[in-house]
Amino acid sequence: LRLGVLASGRGSNLQAIMDACRANKIPAEVAVVISDKAGAYALQRAESAGIPAHFLDYASFDGKGAYEQAAVTILKESGVQLVCLAGYMRLVGETLLRTYANHIINIHPALLPSFPGLHGQRDALNYGVKVSGCTVHFVDEGMDTGPIILQAAVPVEEEDTEETLAARILEQEHKLYPEAIKLFAQGRLRVQGRKVMIQRLAN
Ligand code: GRF
Repeated sequence: LRLGVLASGRGSNLQAIMDACRANKIPAEVAVVISDKAGAYALQRAESAGIPAHFLDYASFDGKGAYEQAAVTILKESGVQLVCLAGYMRLVGETLLRTYANHIINIHPALLPSFPGLHGQRDALNYGVKVSGCTVHFVDEGMDTGPIILQAAVPVEEEDTEETLAARILEQEHKLYPEAIKLFAQGRLRVQGRKVMIQRLAN
């Protein structure tokens, strides 16, 4: 399965996905990485791994449609079958959604539908929940609202700061994202309305 990863920053999830692919833990490969941030460390990680990396400057396009059309062109030329958002800080628009319907997934650092948005860890901490975690989900037009594929839970400790909680969640993200991609690559995910059914392996 050929993956296209969209990332805006650090790229630690991108790294986890590339590592899992290279270690043959999942039947997939990262074909291309696209970032909307010029200096994103994710771009360097891709280049270090010998994977084509593109910076698309949102401001240089005439709106979201044109910007996403440029991304679609790159993804298509790279033969991408599944788009993985990994710390991609933009809402996905119509152009990408239509081209890759049910073929775009995202990871979010909270147990959705709780705490969507930019500060999942901080919001969970401030709310006082005792358990949080991460969610891999299909992407729809909303903010972190699409059908849920997998979740992992972590405890929230009394002494936690946003940073310590984020680190505990991130450790799980790096396992959960490759696992979700593996299920997709194995053709085991079926979206039925809001729900994602995971087909069991015959034994
Ligand atoms: C992760 O916490 C992810 O869940 C969120 O943004 C962060 C990206 O981290 N969507 P990285 O760029 O993958 O290191």
